Amino acid sequence: MDQLTVMIVGSGGREHALAWKVAQSPQAQKVIVAPGNGGTVCRGGTTASGISTSFTSKISNVDIRAEDTAGLLRFAQENQIGLTIIGPEGPLAEGIVDTFTAAGLRVFGPSRAAAQLEASKAYAKRFMCEQHIPTAEYASFDDFESAAAWVSAFGRPVVVKADGLAAGKGVIICETPDDAILALRRCMLDREFGAAGATVVIEERMTGREVSVLAFSDGHTIVTMPPARDHKRVFDNDEGPNTGGMGAYAPVPDVSEALIDEIKRTILQPTIDGMLARGIPYTGVLYAGIMLTPRGPRTLEFNCRFGDPETQVILPLLQSDLVDILMACVPTGMLSNESLRGGALDRMSSEVRWHAGACATIVAAAPGYPGTYPKSLPIHGLDEEFEQSGAIVFHAGTTITDEQVVTSGGRVLSVSAQGDDMHTALERAYAGINHIHFEGMHYRKDIGVIRSQDAPTAHTETI
Ligand code: AMP
Ligand code: GLY
Repeated sequence: MDQLTVMIVGSGGREHALAWKVAQSPQAQKVIVAPGNGGTVCRGGTTASGISTSFTSKISNVDIRAEDTAGLLRFAQENQIGLTIIGPEGPLAEGIVDTFTAAGLRVFGPSRAAAQLEASKAYAKRFMCEQHIPTAEYASFDDFESAAAWVSAFGRPVVVKADGLAAGKGVIICETPDDAILALRRCMLDREFGAAGATVVIEERMTGREVSVLAFSDGHTIVTMPPARDHKRVFDNDEGPNTGGMGAYAPVPDVSEALIDEIKRTILQPTIDGMLARGIPYTGVLYAGIMLTPRGPRTLEFNCRFGDPETQVILPLLQSDLVDILMACVPTGMLSNESLRGGALDRMSSEVRWHAGACATIVAAAPGYPGTYPKSLPIHGLDEEFEQSGAIVFHAGTTITDEQVVTSGGRVLSVSAQGDDMHTALERAYAGINHIHFEGMHYRKDIGVIRSQDAPTAHTETI
């Protein structure tokens, strides 16, 4: 078997989870994370994550920013990188995949044109309408007066969204037409989200629980991952401001196999087919954010990458070799037209296996997050005792200073654990996070609780 050096671009918990899973592949000789975090630093055979199994010694960092396409390309060429995996949406929207592909390098992720599904909400909505993919009723505007007139005439609650990438912000849920006009003003006139808000999408406001369904795609064939659900608000009971995600679990007990089939048939496959028909084969991960409305599943958004923290619960459930799957999705280097002819995922789709049971992850955040927060707080408890707990820690905002793991971001780390059922997975993940400590650390205590007000039915369940 040929061995590869794999490069992972990004620095969050998602990238640590990708590195952890890729390193378990016998095909991966080395795994280099650019720029990585304190958990992906190699320290003499063990990583700072507290995990010291042999495979983690393959992981190390290189100090190149995710946005530095030229630097990443140079590094990949000079170091015979056999596969590059792009974590965040920014470099994808900037066209890093096009640059690597043109240079004959294997890279996992969609092209710049395909990444428009995430980078422009107006593009995604137009595409969904043309493909008859279920989504909220909408209109898109680039002038304030027309947008305000539409809101007044619409008469029902709306959601105002900045068209471009706004780092998870840029979506304003509005109660009244006055709220909506204020939201339009913030986006379009005050430019609170910068250039991302020059165009807005206004949508009917829907109700229902949400689910993230991610699929691997080679441009033709998709293989879905177990459905996941993240918790976006900072405090228990879904209170407080939105964050990048405070925890997640998979699979989602209120999403049946039949519902996944429906989502695949009505949302994911028509998206891949529609992109191919437009001459823009979609390779990489297609992530559909879906609301389970009383009228059926409706697409809220597409992301063109793995989710964070969804990846930290999905990858521990993957039994198969991740490198095999990613290589099957990627057109071989120069032959970018190959993806128009068909990738290799259909040949191995029946071999993609998942563990039974469940996985949960709990995010530990810095004091003040998602507002301003201090950095450089020493993190305690990443020790042998933690390791024996059976939980896994994926670092996000951490770095190493003088041999000590310290905080360097808002979402600091997440603790994932598997179990035969969700209850066990949650119990283990909470036992793991309770072992870790830094000053002012906070985390949600209700990951895995399904809330009644989000639900089409009216009662609260705990799983
Ligand atoms: P998005 O980035 O488009 O997924 O939106 C972020 C969040 O805003 C979603 O996860 C939903 O909670 C909420 N949201 C977005 N669109 C709608 C909608 N049309 N109706 C109700 N909630 C929405
Ligand atoms: N968990 C939400 C996202 O990755 O966009």
